[in-house]
Amino acid sequence: MRTITVSASKSYDVRIGEGLLDAAGALLRETADGQTAAVVSDETVAALYGRRLTKTLAQNGYRTEPYVFPVGETSKNAETFLSLLDFLAEKKLSRADVVVALGGGVAGDLAGFAAACYMRGVRFAQIPTTLLAAVDSSVGGKTAVNLAAGKNLAGAFYQPDAVICDVSLLSTLPQEVFLDGCAEVIKTGIIADRALFDALETPVPAQLEDVIARCVEIKRDIVAEDEFEHGRRKLLNFGHTAGHAIELLSGYQTSHGRAVAVGMAIATRAAVRMGLCGEDCLREVLAMLRRYELPVSTRYGADALAAACLSDKKRDGGVLTMVFPAEIGRCVLRDVPVGELESVIASGLEV
Ligand code: NAD
Ligand code: GLY
Repeated sequence: MRTITVSASKSYDVRIGEGLLDAAGALLRETADGQTAAVVSDETVAALYGRRLTKTLAQNGYRTEPYVFPVGETSKNAETFLSLLDFLAEKKLSRADVVVALGGGVAGDLAGFAAACYMRGVRFAQIPTTLLAAVDSSVGGKTAVNLAAGKNLAGAFYQPDAVICDVSLLSTLPQEVFLDGCAEVIKTGIIADRALFDALETPVPAQLEDVIARCVEIKRDIVAEDEFEHGRRKLLNFGHTAGHAIELLSGYQTSHGRAVAVGMAIATRAAVRMGLCGEDCLREVLAMLRRYELPVSTRYGADALAAACLSDKKRDGGVLTMVFPAEIGRCVLRDVPVGELESVIASGLEV
């Protein structure tokens, strides 16, 4: 088992290893001394792993209260969030008790936001079951639900008390969901680590634990420096401006990972046209996305994408901060005036 400690407003350990689900009760006991664990997961994950988690929780003195919601991004909304808060109240969770997200980014974002709000904050643990959640969403404390106007528009920064990443749980992921997570791994390489990017020439499953650990280390460093996203943390949003717009326009039928992949392709093409990076960088980004069977183009036009972007939370007054590659392993932030957004996106669309 590897342990990576994140030091932010809260300090906590990310445990990564094989078979950790069955030790989750004991690992949780290190940080949460309550009696009840509210376990939040979607129907698929609850059926696959709920019983094993309940068993280890019981062995360590926790009563489990399962909250199970329908699979998918469309559950990450205000209605499910309020229903989860009501559930926590009905089950009489106290501040000493713990909310556990068992699942992908949807379960983590939803459960984390509820844990942040219920009684103004209860203990919270993440047990990621997708690659995306393992390498990105379970670490760093961003929690949120979507509103009709856009992605993640209601949320909080709320760090977990523990992250328990059992890499063997990823073996049941459908291939396309695994590849969604590869998009975030590729993103991490492009923004921060040329060596990680190059290592992705070897398929991720052949080096799963190493890849997860490296992504978590990189995120740990960024979050330690800029927990509340005033500066460097914005780099983690590479591909997300157009990506969130694609998710919104598709009614969340396009997955987050695939939308971010297209968003990275758009931002990199635009970067070439803005003189921020060279054609070689673009070629490498597109080749890596294609290697992991991720899309690099969209059917939506620049006008629709720009309009959808403007409902996204990352607008700051009259500008939107976008992330562009300067080279593989290093990205830069640029403030794009709202009036220029459509032409920047247009320059990033494949013609
Ligand atoms: P998800 O949680 O919907 O999971 C994807 C699918 O995989 C679901 O159908 C789920 O049932 C299934 N699944 C999960 N684990 C499984 C397993 N072990 N075996 C079989 N099936 C399994 O989606 P996701 O891709 O994990 O997360 C996407 C979400 O994460 C988006 O809402 C995105 O905005 C959010 N996100 C948040 C952050 C953050 O920092 N908070 C970062 C990146 C993404
Ligand atoms: N996934 C973006 C962030 O955590 O900042």
